[in-house]
Amino acid sequence: MAIDLQLQAPTTAGLTWAVTPNPEAKSEAERDEILAAPGFGKHFTDHMVDICWSEKGGWHRPRVSPYGPIQLDPAAAVLHYGQEVFEGLKAYRHADGSIWTFRPYENAARIQRSAYRMALPELPVDYFIDSLRQLIAVDGGWVPSAPETSLYLRPFLFAKEAFLGVRPAAKVAYYLIASPAGAYFHGGIAPVSIWLSTTWSRAGKGGTGAAKTGGNYASSLLPQSEAYAKGCDQVLFLDEGKYLEELGGMNVILVKKDGTLVTPESDSILEGITRDSILTLAKDRGHDVEHRKVTIDEWREGAASGDIVGAFACGTAAVVTPIGRLLAEDFEIVHHGDAAAELALSLREELTGIQYGRVEDRHGWLLRLDA
Ligand code: PLP
Ligand code: COI
Repeated sequence: MAIDLQLQAPTTAGLTWAVTPNPEAKSEAERDEILAAPGFGKHFTDHMVDICWSEKGGWHRPRVSPYGPIQLDPAAAVLHYGQEVFEGLKAYRHADGSIWTFRPYENAARIQRSAYRMALPELPVDYFIDSLRQLIAVDGGWVPSAPETSLYLRPFLFAKEAFLGVRPAAKVAYYLIASPAGAYFHGGIAPVSIWLSTTWSRAGKGGTGAAKTGGNYASSLLPQSEAYAKGCDQVLFLDEGKYLEELGGMNVILVKKDGTLVTPESDSILEGITRDSILTLAKDRGHDVEHRKVTIDEWREGAASGDIVGAFACGTAAVVTPIGRLLAEDFEIVHHGDAAAELALSLREELTGIQYGRVEDRHGWLLRLDA
């Protein structure tokens, strides 16, 4: 079959994209069927983006190609030493049909910080943003329009050089794929339960906890399986056996009786963009926000005395979800707190209102991707 390769004019980022349309792209009917019930991370769009990097040539050969398997040498460094980083952000369809994303410059900066920590090259911010626009230009039809649905964008960077010595790879690939998304948790926005892992830790001082790198997630899988076995949705990790860190894939915020929001400060957790946004919106409403070390005992004692009335989890995938219960080996915290759940849901409503264009974007967080 002849390859229908189109070379575009250079973009403002200075990239000349080679675009190969997918000859086996899904029909509109097939796509609509997927978009009607997308789930999370199960279906992928028709195309993907990639850019190569080599020590000698820098960033080169930006492409948009049909979505499909990647050919890798079995000695590719990522398969052996896990030299990899990724991001997660979403594209939202507004009522007028336009497509927007939320704070992408924060994701662009974070993937650079993650790359630095994992000795990977830093993708220039304008290449990152350009890659989002290129994918939306071919796969914009995959951004769903039903309430609370979006197109989850997954940029990632990995070591593809084939060698078995342990050193930073001299050949790296950047990819962007996309997956239509509904609610992350099966229960939608119903309160979730959390298992407190005291056997395993996620990160340590000077480690990779603040980087969004695959190894952090790989090491969370065993404790996450224990959480499922205990009937819980997510796992909470502690630092030094006592300070709250974060969940396997989300940050955590506690709600005090007086409306103060408390969230762990640590250099070993992922600095969530959702958490920062939620705390900004809460401050706008007059809530006090404390970003500091928080012990599990403070939560336990606060819940018992009534000083802490609830908690919620937040992240791109989960948005904002109330935590109804924390289960540990030898104790349990249950939050019936309607006020805290109501606050979580009203902050969620405001945040998603901005993301979907229903609420004024007063902080300038949105970027249009389809124009
Ligand atoms: N913490 C972890 C471990 C995560 O995987 C995520 C999700 O990306 C977050 C926190 C929340 O980050 P963000 O709100 O930027 O998605
Ligand atoms: C995200 O929220 O983007 C994440 O990467 C977390 C994961 C649970 C999907």
